[in-house]
Amino acid sequence: MRDEDEAIEIILDHYRSPHNYGEIESPDDQILEYNPVCGDAVRLTVRFQGDVLSDIKFVGRGCSISQASASILTDTVKGKTVSEISRITEEDILRNLGVSLGPNREKCALLAYNALQKIIRRRKG
Ligand code: FES
Repeated sequence: MRDEDEAIEIILDHYRSPHNYGEIESPDDQILEYNPVCGDAVRLTVRFQGDVLSDIKFVGRGCSISQASASILTDTVKGKTVSEISRITEEDILRNLGVSLGPNREKCALLAYNALQKIIRRRKG
């Protein structure tokens, strides 16, 4: 298990230099998710190849936790199947971040995750 200082460094790295930042042209699906409390937002565009999430990109604005966790999420799920992604839990996301967050900041960390799970539910029909 990483220690919290290392986890914070990783979060700041993702915030400063987000991975998979941008928009996929002609995506198979897209979604805009808001945190109504603060107005921060993440927009995901995705591409599927059969059952596999072959590409995912995000754009957004908001706090370091919401934007870094969107970046980390895109790295984690790219190349996974729809059913693998649907089995990822909120606890997995929070544990993977490696920092302890209060309930309000947990919403920040789950913004992109919640958006992606909506896409995955639509995909499963
Ligand atoms: Fe808005 Fe974190 S403060 S998502």
